[in-house]
Amino acid sequence: MWFCVARSADLDGPGAFRTARVGRESVIVSRAGDGSVRAFLNVCRHRGARLCTEESGRVRRAFTCPYHAWTYDLDGTLIAAPNLSKMPDIDRREYGLVTVHAREWIGYVWVCLAAEPPPFEQDVLGAVTTRLGDLASIENYGIEKLKVGRRIAYDVKANWKLIVENFMECYHCATIHPELTAVLPEFAEGYAAQYYVGHGAAFADEVEGFTIDGSPGVDRIPGVSDDQDRRYYAITIRPQVFVNLVPDHAIVHRMFPLAADRTVVECDWLFLPEVVDGGSDLGPSVELFHRVNVQDFEACERCQPAMASRAYAAGGVLVPSEHHIADFHEWVTGRLGITR
Ligand code: FES
Ligand code: FE
Repeated sequence: MWFCVARSADLDGPGAFRTARVGRESVIVSRAGDGSVRAFLNVCRHRGARLCTEESGRVRRAFTCPYHAWTYDLDGTLIAAPNLSKMPDIDRREYGLVTVHAREWIGYVWVCLAAEPPPFEQDVLGAVTTRLGDLASIENYGIEKLKVGRRIAYDVKANWKLIVENFMECYHCATIHPELTAVLPEFAEGYAAQYYVGHGAAFADEVEGFTIDGSPGVDRIPGVSDDQDRRYYAITIRPQVFVNLVPDHAIVHRMFPLAADRTVVECDWLFLPEVVDGGSDLGPSVELFHRVNVQDFEACERCQPAMASRAYAAGGVLVPSEHHIADFHEWVTGRLGITR
């Protein structure tokens, strides 16, 4: 599937790179000399050493393996290796890095490890249109032009699927999200905001913005329509992205499953560049969803140990109270070929 690994702006010029865990693989995403994004498996073709051990960085012209110094250019081609002329059986052209499909959308780099990736339009854009009704509704926010005002990585001791289920669920909002339900009162009723196509949860009348204290927030994104004003939209893009939209910012979560019981969730708060550069106080905006994240991840961590209980046979204690969560279960078991 398509997997979101990095913010495009973090690859700010040729040689800038980021590494990310995608399933059992480590992937390098980097910008080539022509400005395009490239992705490679992070495996040296000589004896398989990890090529890049840093999470991010910048090389001048090439990646050099720290083990025996095989060197690959920004297109992944093997361009040099010590004593290569004395190894007549090694054809440089055959030992380039293994490439991975990559593309950019909403200012993020998405990769796919499959030899033949599924259509991006269907899997990624389709998830957005299914939820919002059309693509224009997300394009209004111009997410690719927004700037990261804050990024927080959460190391969550829970399986990624618990985090997806929790994100799609609204049944818990009244219990664990007092600050969020103060801004979005319908969430206290347990309505599934992601169930109704095109539905955005309305802000409470007395609230001025999507902030921890109901304060107005920052400048509204100009493309946001009047219908979208004072509303919150949440989108799940399987398998690992959540997009949250409010009039003055977007919040984008990417999950990196590291083990059956551990997931790093990287969360960006994106605002208009002039808002970030102008020194506006982002604190009240960031604090609201940061608190929601902490509350949600604590809930997931509370469930995780019980997943090993005999009470949890075959997904048994699950009573999905919301339809689309049952859909998610069916999707997972279907992908795994499990019949129940
Ligand atoms: Fe990379 Fe030998 S393993 S150069
Ligand atoms: Fe929640």
